[in-house]
Amino acid sequence: MFIKQISLMTIISGSLIATSCNSAGKKAEESTDSVATTAAPQPYGHVDGQEVLQYTLTNANGIVVKVLNYGGVITDIITPDRDGNKGNIVLSYDSLAGYLQKGNPYFGTLVGRYGNRIAKATFQLDGQTYKLAANDHGNTLHGGMKGFDKVVWKATPQPGDSSLVLEYTSKDGEEGYPGNLQVQVTYTLTADNALKIEYAATTDKATPVNLTQHTYFNLSAGKDANILDHVLQLNASNYTPVDDLLIPTGKISPVKGTPMDFTAAKKIGQDIGKVKGGYDHNWVFDKQGFDTVGSLYHEASGRYMTMATSEPAVQFYSGNFLDGSLDYTRDGAKYVQHAGMCLEAQHFPDSPNQPSFPNTILKPGERYTQTTVYQFGVK
Ligand code: GLA
Repeated sequence: MFIKQISLMTIISGSLIATSCNSAGKKAEESTDSVATTAAPQPYGHVDGQEVLQYTLTNANGIVVKVLNYGGVITDIITPDRDGNKGNIVLSYDSLAGYLQKGNPYFGTLVGRYGNRIAKATFQLDGQTYKLAANDHGNTLHGGMKGFDKVVWKATPQPGDSSLVLEYTSKDGEEGYPGNLQVQVTYTLTADNALKIEYAATTDKATPVNLTQHTYFNLSAGKDANILDHVLQLNASNYTPVDDLLIPTGKISPVKGTPMDFTAAKKIGQDIGKVKGGYDHNWVFDKQGFDTVGSLYHEASGRYMTMATSEPAVQFYSGNFLDGSLDYTRDGAKYVQHAGMCLEAQHFPDSPNQPSFPNTILKPGERYTQTTVYQFGVK
């Protein structure tokens, strides 16, 4: 069965069951007349006077994903290796203090209103100049000083323990962005071992929107100190070259013949030494629309992950700034350089200032959506 937790909370059916749209949810609906059960979220501390809770998603195969309503943080993705030994394949802390520490590099968080960088923390829209919080060498990074990673979201678990809906309203002017932005993110652990992340947003004024997820993967589940032995493949023939502050130059360049080429599966460590600072770039996918875009494989454990997304690009960040100095790490782990890596499905960095890049402006009456699926397995 799906429900392994000792403490169970009962949810009266009503609209929750009526809106259930996943297979686990359907099972719950079939197996009960008007009542579904779900695991009770666990207390995880307080932020801004609000309670932080940890929610657990499970599937019939024993995969576990744990999520906080703070920042939409994914604290755990627990999957088996090829011998069936389970482990957490994401970098994480042992408590909320870790996530609140200064310099926490977005472990597991949702990112918004605009993931990645906006040059000089400013952009123009409809003849107006907007000033954003400059939190990265004069540029704005990941939504500013207090982005979507640092706020408490309203969390609504769906029946059947496999899906969690998070909602947040970002106020007009927050971090300098125009418009009240209503955001909804749904995490679903599917029956076939995928974590599906669906984002939606609407606004009452035109505004840039670029939502993503900042989980650091290490498929060895703590066995390897870094991800340099992981094998990455990306269906991306191009990337966006950047300046020293990681702002795109505006060019879209072929990866062929460069260390950026992951069109054929390649160990991350193979060419990383040829890239100043390591990988922290935006790869442009070849596909249009929602499709599979790549894979990650860790041979020693047998774990692999495929990625599919609706987004035109991904920021592959190889954990370059990790230096072993973070406190409250899970099990006292030393997260040294390259201890984990992010595959942040997204639009191109600095799009609001780059007219040739795909549009990131959401207007009133429109609906922003993005879907990214990470599927886990062994071979
Ligand atoms: C992103 C950026 C990196 C770094 C990390 C957080 O992925 O691209 O440069 O800022 O977030 O440390």
